[in-house]
Amino acid sequence: MAKLKVTESPKAKIAKPFLKWAGGKTQLIASIESALPKDIHNQKFTYIEPFVGSGAVLFWMLNNFPTLEKAVINDINEDLINAYRVIASQPQELISILRELQAEYHTLENNEEKKKLYYYEKRDLYNTRETNKSTQAALFIFLNRTCFNGLYRVNSRNLFNVPMGSYKLPTICDEPNILAVSEVLQKVEIMSGDYTKTLEHAGNISFFYFDPPYKPLSNTSNFNSYAKGEFGDEEQIRLRDFCTKLSKLGFKWILSNSDVRGHDLNNHFFDELFKDYVISRVKATRMINAHAAKRGELNELLISNYSHEQALQTA
Ligand SMILES: C[S@@+](CC[C@H](N)C(=O)[O-])C[C@H]1O[C@@H](n2cnc3c(N)ncnc32)[C@H](O)[C@@H]1O
Repeated sequence: MAKLKVTESPKAKIAKPFLKWAGGKTQLIASIESALPKDIHNQKFTYIEPFVGSGAVLFWMLNNFPTLEKAVINDINEDLINAYRVIASQPQELISILRELQAEYHTLENNEEKKKLYYYEKRDLYNTRETNKSTQAALFIFLNRTCFNGLYRVNSRNLFNVPMGSYKLPTICDEPNILAVSEVLQKVEIMSGDYTKTLEHAGNISFFYFDPPYKPLSNTSNFNSYAKGEFGDEEQIRLRDFCTKLSKLGFKWILSNSDVRGHDLNNHFFDELFKDYVISRVKATRMINAHAAKRGELNELLISNYSHEQALQTA
């Protein structure tokens, strides 16, 4: 009998965010954990994250809560959501394109000029938005790994315009993680559009985590243009109204945002906006800031519509 050739499969890994993303929530997970409804570990539930970004909390939830039956994720950034969908449905095709991009980029390591040309050529190709979905997702990941600080910024015509970063040999194809992410995404519904649409997919017992673009602490620290359009004060108010609607329907939620009062004692914007809810101030380190000196410890807000001793099911 012919011997079967055993091809080594990449080591299984725990799924983690496959992107760098402004406002990534890894730093806040311990605080979020202690603010969850107390019986969430032994209650079947649907997890809903309407502003998913790189999904730091999503992957942590998927890895640590066996009672999580289904998740629903959403983001207004269609290119980001395309990357999630491709990882979920065509991980092998994505991996082979990323492998090639990585091999080509790494061979240019010592030639700054050629590397630059290559980066801008791929950025132009991405901006045509005419390649197939898996190539588009691969280019999105490539740009995220090689651009300046992993920023995602587009102009008014939705053209990605971040310059090249200065990483030496960035990992562009993290195959074990893509496979791990693909596997955990099998129980995730992936949506793209305004966050309010997620309500249509809520199950009986659903828990929402909102991580909207943060209100800037000052006019110069404006990092809230992730996609077309801005997320100004009217948007923060519309989101509060949506949270109130969820409360009336009996759903529990947590929302994070910047602590504007910590920066300016007279700024009571969130304290007033969420005066009917539970507001805690927690420490967090901001990972993306254009000025290295400004990366440091800040307070952030965790707001919920229940006291942290409450169970998931009690409305
Ligand atoms: C602070 S980031 C989320 C970061 C995420 N928690 C993480 O760990 O990476 C906010 C996200 O909201 C998205 N967004 C902005 N406006 C939106 C809207 N109206 N509906 C849904 N998503 C929106 C942005 O594209 C961005 O990815």
